[in-house]
Amino acid sequence: MTENQEPKRKRVTAETMAAKQRDISVSEFFAKNRHLLGFDNPRKALLTAVKEAVDNSLDACEEAGIVPELWVHIEATAPNRFKVGVQDNGPGIVKKQIPLIFGKLLYGSKFHRLRMSRGQQGIGISAAGMYGMLTTGKPVKIISKTSSRKPAHYFELQIDTKRNQPEIINGKGEGEDIPAGEKGEKYIADHGIEWVAELNRGTRVTIELEGRFMRGRGSVDEYLEETAIANPHVTIHYVDPEGIPITYERSSTELPPEPQEIKPHPYGIELGQLVTMFKETSTSTMSQFLTSSFSRVSSGVAQKICEAAKISTRSNPKRIGRHEAEALYNAIQNTKISAPATDCISPIGESLILKGLHHRVPGEFYAAATRPPAVYRGNPFLIEVGLAYGGSSPAQKVSLDTLTELLAESDARSLRQFLMTTFDGIGSPGAEKILSEAEMGPRQTPSKLTKDLIEHLHAAMKNVNLSEGQTMQVLRYANRVPLQFQPAACAITQAVIANNWRAYGLTQARGQLPTGPVTVMVHMASVWVPFTSESKEAIASYPEIMKELRLGLQAVGRKLAIYLNRRNRFRQEGERREVFL
Ligand SMILES: Nc1ncnc2c1ncn2[C@@H]1O[C@H](COP(=O)(O)OP(=O)(O)OP(=O)(O)O)[C@@H](O)[C@H]1O
Ligand SMILES: [Mg+2]
Repeated sequence: MTENQEPKRKRVTAETMAAKQRDISVSEFFAKNRHLLGFDNPRKALLTAVKEAVDNSLDACEEAGIVPELWVHIEATAPNRFKVGVQDNGPGIVKKQIPLIFGKLLYGSKFHRLRMSRGQQGIGISAAGMYGMLTTGKPVKIISKTSSRKPAHYFELQIDTKRNQPEIINGKGEGEDIPAGEKGEKYIADHGIEWVAELNRGTRVTIELEGRFMRGRGSVDEYLEETAIANPHVTIHYVDPEGIPITYERSSTELPPEPQEIKPHPYGIELGQLVTMFKETSTSTMSQFLTSSFSRVSSGVAQKICEAAKISTRSNPKRIGRHEAEALYNAIQNTKISAPATDCISPIGESLILKGLHHRVPGEFYAAATRPPAVYRGNPFLIEVGLAYGGSSPAQKVSLDTLTELLAESDARSLRQFLMTTFDGIGSPGAEKILSEAEMGPRQTPSKLTKDLIEHLHAAMKNVNLSEGQTMQVLRYANRVPLQFQPAACAITQAVIANNWRAYGLTQARGQLPTGPVTVMVHMASVWVPFTSESKEAIASYPEIMKELRLGLQAVGRKLAIYLNRRNRFRQEGERREVFL
């Protein structure tokens, strides 16, 4: 082949490339990368939508000082399609804000502040609406009421993903106002708008989406149950797609202490951030700037920082040059400043953790520990740990009906896989034990079992002693929200695995969760939880966080060791007595 015959490659120039270079809107980005927001499969998508709405409702009620009451309604509208409705008795939302909150990604009230709340990014509910719109073409419906005297506002929205802007579909692009009183009630009924009628304040969001409803691990049922455990002040009325109503009744009418908003702590600030703050400040002296921008900086501390940086306390922060900024930054690191105030976080508390664990796992021994607040990257946080020992595994509490349903819904390929993925705490040895007790092969397809075989399996699950083969169950929480996915990526699981549980009397293989009838509940409360992704599923392992987790786990571990030692001694004494009698 001569040179001339070679196929010519089309040349791309900087100019032709320039023609294709343009902005990418946030909503376009997340529509393509929906897995980053927790919408990677239909099953998880349904859960994520419920979770975003419920978390928002709880945040809004608590912020407004209202004891939360929620209505969660999931209805099947077609195969693989569901309508999710979540209503709260919260403060409601003013008319102008509704389209932006539900129809624009990255719009919210929590991102720019340092205060503990469930949401923090300003993406959650609009992303759920966008997912619904993309998979079913249906708009998101919102009705919100701020008082019994004022009209309610009703919107049907779509997101213009190209521009990341809401599009109002109803009321000629303006939304509809529903008058207060009986007239309004009639309007709501006539127009088929969903609303729990007796409420005269609150918000309801309805999203229709492609999803899959399943029970067991990682399900909506599990999320609501775990939410109720960590939030004893909340009542949730839940109706599942089969129309079965469940109410999680509150056990306390007291709201958790209100977390205070704080300013950033100087130790957590980065140089670039400091430079931006200088540019944007409205203060006129360095001393004012330092005391008003940061927490824990008194005028005395400000003076020390300025002295160390060799800058006058009266210099104008707007005129600070690059070198001076760096000197100030270093001076901050070298000045002793007290740890951030911690009234910005509100822990669940040892007694409620114990109560919650007791509710979930009826065991024989319980322990809890709340660590004192600590700081990572300037953000205050706090770790709480609870532990329950003994009791039967969830697999042994399951009724025949529920088991039949779980088997029918399962897409696990083998019975062994079904047992391990449906029930917490059954490891591979537990599954083997059950199957050999039931004299069943491991490879049977779960959904094809006959009624007789299901009964057989159910009996085996009840009879087998699972406590030895069981692996530790870990319940993870961040700002009172249960974390149900990505355990391996999460700092909590990593800290549990890294802990030496053999020292406390449990069996543990290297690099694995310990075995035994143990459940551990870990809560991280912080003004900013460092999630590993936007879907808020796992906590990043900052060294400060890992250290606090370790100390918390050790505290409950030591209590467990004392209990197990005492129990073993008692048993041995009993055995010895039997020998001599
Ligand atoms: N049910 C509600 N009642 C009152 N205000 C609400 C309600 N739901 C959402 N909001 C407001 O809308 C904002 C945006 O909600 P969104 O879920 O998108 O983000 P977020 O909760 O701030 O953060 P995240 O993305 O982490 O959930 C919230 O910050 C809150 O101010
Ligand atoms: Mg939210």
